[in-house]
Amino acid sequence: PSMNTKMWSSKMVQANIEKLKDAGYEFMEPASGDLACGTEGKGRLPAIEEILERMEDIFTSKDLTEETVLVTAGPTMEFIDPVRCITNRSSGKMGYAVAKMAKRRGADVTLITGPATIEFPRNDIDIVHVTTACQMRDAVMEHYKKAGVVIMTAAVADFRCREENCQKIKKKGDSNYMTLELEKNPDIIGELGKVKEQRIIVGFAAETENLLDNAKEKLKKKNLDIIVANDVAKAGIGFGSDNNEVMIIEKSGKAKQVPLLSKEEIANIILDSVKKALKNKKRIKEDWY
Ligand code: C5P
Repeated sequence: PSMNTKMWSSKMVQANIEKLKDAGYEFMEPASGDLACGTEGKGRLPAIEEILERMEDIFTSKDLTEETVLVTAGPTMEFIDPVRCITNRSSGKMGYAVAKMAKRRGADVTLITGPATIEFPRNDIDIVHVTTACQMRDAVMEHYKKAGVVIMTAAVADFRCREENCQKIKKKGDSNYMTLELEKNPDIIGELGKVKEQRIIVGFAAETENLLDNAKEKLKKKNLDIIVANDVAKAGIGFGSDNNEVMIIEKSGKAKQVPLLSKEEIANIILDSVKKALKNKKRIKEDWY
């Protein structure tokens, strides 16, 4: 409904809205701002994108309501000194799409995000902000216990500076070169693979060559259930793009080629594979007992 604030807040209108809600009607609250009659307040038609989102929510079947999903996204940022850092080209779009679609399908979602530059997927997702790989590791270790599914889309920096420089590094002497000593960051997904128990863990593999072989090796080595491989050397997909083209590889070795699609559509296909893996795990557990 969109109307003048006084009309919206009248007892009669509110009582009728409650009656319709009881009968199963869905309502969107009006937005606030300038109104047609020249006043300001609650009563505006909500933004069309928000109406579309809400409609998508209503029409999507809620097949993940029993699941708690933890998603990592975005790049990490490792400081060289107070003004410089090492980071990468990850925008966070893939992880945000996974978090959004999991929530739309009814899951309880926590998103641990590095410093991504895009808007948050929706405001009903728990968001944990981190900057460095070590902070991301601590946040994952704090939250993974309550999750049945962990989807690690983050592009974690492999190395951080060995020394913390509290002051801005100055140019020294006439040399055209300088050396930065780097130290290995924690392998978050590897650590998780060791304590996973019944959880489903999904990893990503951004490769520039031997896509399938490298991804399969990563899946095995890190004890994952699914790995999503994408060729970051291909133009128009991957980093920063709204689209992606991936290969979803299951633990059994089965690989599915997913054609060029939006990251939201790809997120849904990944979640379908997660559902299948959850079902298989449940079946194995039931057979065991
Ligand atoms: O960078 P790489 O292609 O090896 O990443 C593979 C997977 O491992 C991704 O899912 C990424 O989120 C995760 N990863 C991690 N900790 C790291 C490096 C990567 O969890 N230090």
